[in-house]
This record gives sequence, C-alpha cells and structure tokens, in this order.
Amino acid sequence: MRKPVTLQRLREMHASGEKIAVLTCYDAIFAHVLDAAGVEVLLVGDSLGNVLQGHPSTLPVTMDEMIYHTACVVRGNRTAWIIADMPFGSYQESPEQALRNAVRFMKAGAHMVKIEGGGWTAPIVRLLAERGIPVCAHLGFTPQSVYALGGYRVQARDEGAARVLRQHAAELASAGAACLVIEMVPAAIARELTKELPVPVIGIGAGAGCSGQVLVLHDMLGMTFADPPRFVRNFLDGGADVQSAVRNYVAAVKDGAFPDDAIHGY
Ligand code: KIV
Repeated sequence: MRKPVTLQRLREMHASGEKIAVLTCYDAIFAHVLDAAGVEVLLVGDSLGNVLQGHPSTLPVTMDEMIYHTACVVRGNRTAWIIADMPFGSYQESPEQALRNAVRFMKAGAHMVKIEGGGWTAPIVRLLAERGIPVCAHLGFTPQSVYALGGYRVQARDEGAARVLRQHAAELASAGAACLVIEMVPAAIARELTKELPVPVIGIGAGAGCSGQVLVLHDMLGMTFADPPRFVRNFLDGGADVQSAVRNYVAAVKDGAFPDDAIHGY
C-alpha cells in the first residue's frame, strides 16, 4: 500500500513535474477503487448536484449533503488526499461563515476545502489557512457562477481577462492557498500559471501543462446526460472494467497522454 498522500507530497510532485491524478468521488466504494488505482486526490465535488442529484447546476447542493458525501468518501479511502468542495452559499457571506463551514468538513474527515472565485475570496483563504485549514482555490470557469458567466464558456480568452486571472492566482497563493484548480482556460495560460506559482495547479479543460488533471468521475466513465465537454475522455471506452479505466486514467495523466491539447484543449 502506498504511503498516505500529504500536502508536502503534492508540493514535491508540483516541484518535480510528476503529474498529479485527481478525480471527483462521492461515495465509499468509488473512494476505495480510486485510491487502490493510484489516484492521488479525491475531490468530493459539488458536481454531485449534477451527476448524482440531476440538477442543472451545482447551486442547489447543501452543506449537509456535502458533509454526508465527504464522510462516505472518507470511510472508503485509505491513502488519497481528500478535498471537499464548499457548496454555494456556504462561504459567500463572510470569512467567519466560511471558517464555520470549513471546520465541519475537517471534522467529517476532509484534508482540504475548495472554494470558487478570486479577488473577494482572498480574505477567506487567508483566515482558513491561518487557522490550519488547507485551501484549494478554484479559478477560470467557476460552476457556482454559471449564471453570472453566461453559461459553460472558456474563460480568460482575451488579454485583460488573462491578466486578471493571473493576478487572482498570485493573490490567492500569497493569501495561503495550498493548491489551485483551474477550469476551462486556454492551455497556454494554464501552463504559464503552473510555472509561475509555488503551489500545484490542477487543470480541467486547461491543457497538459498543469501540475495535474481532474475530471468528473462519471464523465470519464462515459456516464453523462448529454454530450460531454471537449476536455473529457471516456476511459471506459474499450476498457475491461471500472478499475482498469481508472488505472488507465492515472497512467495517461502521469505519462502526459491525457490531455492532448490538440483534442482536449482550448
Ligand atoms: O465540483 C467539481 O466536480 C469540481 C470540478 C469540476 C473541478 O469543482
């Protein structure tokens, strides 16, 4: 059995260029399978609102639901690092509200919490980090702002927006964010950010130059309500079973075969 994945290990992987394999995970049996297949990080994503609950967005997901799924994942996991997504409405009011809810996740067994957005989130990241709660900041396309952003669209396409993204990423890292998720941005920008930042940058639809990759578990198993976005690859296609699909995903992230910027990038 591998040693438990720690923040220190993720930092070393970022520094050495060893790619980090991340998948979303919402229950105990998948936590067991993903951990055994070598996935380093399990993200209890609020995407469960889409894939498990059938909502059109992540906005209806509640704290109690996220705590329930986090506890399920914790029970099935042995060695992976677990990130819990703070749902819409659980951190937007104040840093103190964010701290109260982040504490609930840590008590449920999460190792890190994730919040979406840049600029206004820096004081939240600072407070949580100061109180010993590792934070992952999510930039680029942020699904909780889907209505404000005008739908599922690639972000930071023009120079001005790319500059703001870089500024937010730098601010969040200096506020204490220990990791970043960056979603649906041009591959060139994500590559530069990954080089510039001292913390791991996990990409989704952000090209091959990131420190690691994350996909929604059901997407990479080909279980989708509609055509998946272009950055998704179905790893069950042609594979024997779920275990091999996940092992193939880990191998493809590690050796750089996934994502292929010409196919999956923007
Ligand atoms: O909720 C989620 O699954 C996420 C990923 C899309 C990164 O935030």
